[in-house]
Amino acid sequence: MNVIVLGGGVVSKVKELIIVGVSLSLAMMIFGATGNVIVNSSFESGSLWGWSPFGSVTLIATTTNPHSGDYCLYTTGRTQSWMGPSYNLFGLLSYDQTYKIDFWVRYDEGPQSIQFKATVKTSSVNGADNYIQAANPTTVQKGIWTEISGEFSIPDDNYSGIVIYVESPGATPNFYLDNFTVTGEISSSAQNLINSQKQEFEAAITPVSEYLKAIPSLYESLSKYFPVGVAVEPGQLLSSNPHSQIVAKEFNMLVPENVMKPEFIEPKPGDFTFQNADAIVDYAIAHHMIMRGHNFIWYEETPNWFFEDPSNPSKPASRTLLLERMKDLITTTMKHFEDKYGSNNPIKYWDIVNEPLNDNGTLRDTKWLQIIGPDYIAKAFEYAHEADPNIKLFVNDYGMENDGIKAQAMYNLVKKLKDEGVPIDGIGIECHINIDTNLDKLKDVIEKFASLGVEVQFTEIDMSTLGDTSESALLQQARQYRKLFSILEEEHKYITAVVFWGISDDISWLGAQNAPLLFNTALQPKPDFWAIVDPEKAPMNIVNTQPLNTPEGTPASTDWSKSLNFEIQPFTNVDTFVKGYGATAKIKTLWNNDNLYILANVSDTTPSSRDNVEFFIGSRSYRFFRGNFVGKNVEETSYATGYDIQLTIPLDEIGVNSKIGNHVGFDVRVNDYDNSTLKSIAAWNDFANIEEDPIHYGQIEFAGQSMMAYALYGTPDGISDPIWNKSQVINITKFIKGDSGATATVRTLWNDKYLYVLANVWEKDLNASNPLPYRQDSVEIFIDQHNYKTPYYTDGDGQYRVNFENAQSFGPSTDSSGFESFTTKTATGYIVEMAIPFNDITPKVGNVIGFDALVNVAGSGNNSSRKAIIIWSGETNTLYEETQSFGNIMLVHTLSQ
Ligand code: XIL
Repeated sequence: MNVIVLGGGVVSKVKELIIVGVSLSLAMMIFGATGNVIVNSSFESGSLWGWSPFGSVTLIATTTNPHSGDYCLYTTGRTQSWMGPSYNLFGLLSYDQTYKIDFWVRYDEGPQSIQFKATVKTSSVNGADNYIQAANPTTVQKGIWTEISGEFSIPDDNYSGIVIYVESPGATPNFYLDNFTVTGEISSSAQNLINSQKQEFEAAITPVSEYLKAIPSLYESLSKYFPVGVAVEPGQLLSSNPHSQIVAKEFNMLVPENVMKPEFIEPKPGDFTFQNADAIVDYAIAHHMIMRGHNFIWYEETPNWFFEDPSNPSKPASRTLLLERMKDLITTTMKHFEDKYGSNNPIKYWDIVNEPLNDNGTLRDTKWLQIIGPDYIAKAFEYAHEADPNIKLFVNDYGMENDGIKAQAMYNLVKKLKDEGVPIDGIGIECHINIDTNLDKLKDVIEKFASLGVEVQFTEIDMSTLGDTSESALLQQARQYRKLFSILEEEHKYITAVVFWGISDDISWLGAQNAPLLFNTALQPKPDFWAIVDPEKAPMNIVNTQPLNTPEGTPASTDWSKSLNFEIQPFTNVDTFVKGYGATAKIKTLWNNDNLYILANVSDTTPSSRDNVEFFIGSRSYRFFRGNFVGKNVEETSYATGYDIQLTIPLDEIGVNSKIGNHVGFDVRVNDYDNSTLKSIAAWNDFANIEEDPIHYGQIEFAGQSMMAYALYGTPDGISDPIWNKSQVINITKFIKGDSGATATVRTLWNDKYLYVLANVWEKDLNASNPLPYRQDSVEIFIDQHNYKTPYYTDGDGQYRVNFENAQSFGPSTDSSGFESFTTKTATGYIVEMAIPFNDITPKVGNVIGFDALVNVAGSGNNSSRKAIIIWSGETNTLYEETQSFGNIMLVHTLSQ
């Protein structure tokens, strides 16, 4: 069957409109000017195609009972009658038009008949939601596919979100949905977008096999390290589906993305269905691939009946019964594949227990834990080992890549299991990361896990661009993928498989707007692909610019690392390996009227007189050999574990004027020699290692001076303590949203335990009626105790928000223990006092910490939105997720400055 799916969500960003097709004629119809088919979902690709859960339900494309073709959409886990599958229509409709909808539903359990209907929900810009009936309640008989249709229009276009969803008033059965269409006049903005996407569409329908012939195979390129797998749904493997061609060429291992989860294997007690799972196994065998089974014991995608007492579903099952059910699930499933495929069985590994840990390292409070107790983990492994002793058994989890609390908890858990003789063979590191994830500790995690004598696998790799599909985000992603694979390749002796969580961006569970995979929505290889298999072929005709923020300033002491204006800046890492593994560097830069200053710390533990660093700046390049620096503009120190360089470059020499906003091309390459052979090259910007051409450089950006203020030593006793009058007044003046409504100042004090903040806000119309704390009149203080200035939050970073009525709220990774605040209303506004504990450092005179202040200005009336935001240092509304743009405060004893 031919399908065209037009789907994928918010249309305001070009790349979020996904068009993938297999039929040109129907595509032409969609591109026609009038009476467009706006949504046409028949799920024949075997994936969700833009549908997502409305409420906490699970959606899957299934081959059970399709209304037509091979697939339909199956919704399970509904606990409210309004919960169901939904489709994002934002940007696709015009408010003065009528739209027709038509779809088919079926359900197989529960009462003899149930009503189904479709609803359109609009979310208004002023916070109010509006529900429009798109198809009237229609009676559906159990077990019979029934067609439902209706019409709707949108009363006005003053909304910020619009979705359509299917629900069943008064009932919550699992149900099937198929052949869902919306037709009518497509909005002109969407039409324009479609026109502009036509090219991409046409690229998608050129047979994938043609260009696949011309690119290398991912798994062959990495074959000396590990097998390379991919998570798939069965429909993606059909020969009519272009995704299957990528799978066949690029991967040699498969993991079922969903169909081996209990919900699909055993939807009802004892009712095992392996049809979908077998389809994947058959494909793997036919293509000489191995497999990972995924997964048995998890807190999600497990039917409720597992945990219920059969005679009274409102009561929990007993421990004995749940253990029996666990054993039956694991044994029947593993035996099925063992019996059906015998020595051909491609499944070599299996995730037995999935995601057992909370982010804080404690055991996740799942029904398995509640009913069975903590030994549910050991039991699951024992049953699995009994069922098939030939399969390697894994525990799998996410959020361990930074070697934090959760990684340590996983280590402890597996150590304990091993000590108790539990048959566990490996740890799966999921690796759902993003383009900003800090990978510096990943090696430590791998080695820590391997030290337990277990295998390590990377089981669900994807990398979100955090909603940004611009060229520069995609190139940042390629560099980050290169960095990730440099680590995996270096550590390969501990790693027995590496698996991507999906084939291409159009079908990723994270959505195409996060572009997390190696192939794009047109199924073409992205720069990521080249960064992994062959960096030299990365598409370097695109100007690949990494920005290096360089504040104005002159080093004030001979040892630049002790010079304040250098000290308050973050390091930039030169650590993307374009050859081998070895030395890396960290750099900082400054500029003034005459010079550019570069401070580089190189870590290189294998000294050789050939070790060197190259700097590429504008039209010039400079190379400095370890222990052999000459020239008046360069200082060096060499020691056992590395060497440092302080470089002064006259701006005349590189042909750039000293002016805020100016740019100059820049790159760094660290060359590490073992005696006389070049062991490794690490680069800053150009991971393709083609330095000759300045088009491949990143850029130095001449910025203003870093914001800097002083915190006076002292302990205030309330807001009227005169000591506040001695402290420095920091004016909060930068409107990053709106342009008026309030003015504010902040003062700071410190002692051994706390940073004290006194914020004064002049604003008449105070409002806390909106439930979202950042839409209430409030003050936010941001601190980065170590002043690491990172693109993400790390230890010692915090966001503290207090509204004018002293309601506190905190950023997600903020340690709020010991935090205190007080507020006072004044005739002209309000005052907030905060005591922020130094939980991560021992403060000393001279310390400089990262600091910023933000004031939220609420509008008037009920449920008002945020009308203005004022900030001290940062330029954008990103302070809650990065600390790079914070200003600085220096802890001083007296304010002579
Ligand atoms: C996800 C699938 O990708 C989605 O299609 C499904 O709706 C939910 O589950 N960790 C896991 C995987 O171990 O099983 C999850 O897969 C992603 C997170």
